[in-house]
Amino acid sequence: MDTLYPDTIADRDGMSAASIAGRELAIVVPTLNERANVPVLVARLHTVLAGVAWEIVFVDDDSRDGTADEVRAIAQRDPQVRVLQRIGRRGLSSACIEGILATSAPIVAVMDADLQHDETLLPRMLAALRGGEIDVAIASRYVAGGGIGQWDGRRARISDFATRLSRLVVKAEIADPMSGFFMLRRPAFNEAVRDLSAQGFKILLDLFASAPRPLRFQEFAYEFRARQFGESKLDAMAVWEYLMLIADKLIGRVVPVRFVLFALIGAFGVLANLIVLRLALGAGAAFSIAETGATIAAMVFNFLLNNQLTYRDRRLRGWRMLRGMAIFCLGCGVGAVANVGVAAEAFGRGSSWWLAGLAGALIGGVWNYAIASTYTWGARRRAA
Ligand code: GDD
Ligand code: MN
Repeated sequence: MDTLYPDTIADRDGMSAASIAGRELAIVVPTLNERANVPVLVARLHTVLAGVAWEIVFVDDDSRDGTADEVRAIAQRDPQVRVLQRIGRRGLSSACIEGILATSAPIVAVMDADLQHDETLLPRMLAALRGGEIDVAIASRYVAGGGIGQWDGRRARISDFATRLSRLVVKAEIADPMSGFFMLRRPAFNEAVRDLSAQGFKILLDLFASAPRPLRFQEFAYEFRARQFGESKLDAMAVWEYLMLIADKLIGRVVPVRFVLFALIGAFGVLANLIVLRLALGAGAAFSIAETGATIAAMVFNFLLNNQLTYRDRRLRGWRMLRGMAIFCLGCGVGAVANVGVAAEAFGRGSSWWLAGLAGALIGGVWNYAIASTYTWGARRRAA
């Protein structure tokens, strides 16, 4: 290793090159406003992982509380600490995936920053993976000796329901497929990485559902701890994101779940259009005025629903939302022209009225979806 990295800063400072290169274990930690937890977690890992060549990679989604800067400050003193800061992005799963891709360690753990996961399990999980008999070590709340700590009944029921639902896409008998705390060997990750949905919170479930072969695993009991600093980001929408993940695993190979949602919301938009039209006509408006108003109302309604649901991970706020809405409406306008054009052409060539109408709606819908995905909710700068 010394010959490989003869000129590292570490060498000049008299530190061992092993602290820079050749790490066996990486701990990937997704963060969103976890500033106060960062130094505590790093200190605890130094204690439990003494004697192991490890590093920790925080993947921060541009937290407003300065989490990334806190990590950088610590990293200046501690070369085992790194940060990957993402701008304009959100999502626990995708953060974990990018963190795993950003390290060279052959064994990688994923763990929350908030000290709810019991870090004293790490050495035992590592020992089990070194043996080579398993691909994944799962820290589990639902095997003998584990527990969910101070969760209230509602949260416990949601977790229980989610676990049952997961059986639709994961055949393995995992007691805690929802766990956010696990360790795995890189080959097992590499085999699945291109098929991951990367949606929402459930990276472990995603891995098992996407792996091309059954993964060998072992569960390690632990008691889920109470949060000390900061607050949970798992809101009601996490349930929604979870349902999207399951849907993607079930039908994603045939048609993108986002498109299905987009189309469903579009159908609701047609309904909204008709309702507003009826109301406006009832109030005595001229037809062209009423239909113009109804169309705009339907587009705004569609935009808001898509912003909240279909593109939740890229949700627009403030003036960006207004700008996005304008782009969306413009795009829909062009889509409508395409729709009418295709439908008229098909009808002119002798298609039945409904087939022509359907073809037009399909072309218009795909167009609107393409514009929405690339422009309205395309890449942008700040999300947190
Ligand atoms: N980068 C990034 N981006 N990090 C995020 C995001 C995000 O969008 N959302 C949450 N995090 C980070 C949090 O800062 C925390 O470190 C970790 O992900 C877990 O978030 P919590 O909000 O604390 O989740 P939880 O405690 O309710 O649920 C956790 O534990 C469950 C049981 O193991 C999660 O790990 C669940 O996935 C898990 O099922
Ligand atoms: Mn937590």
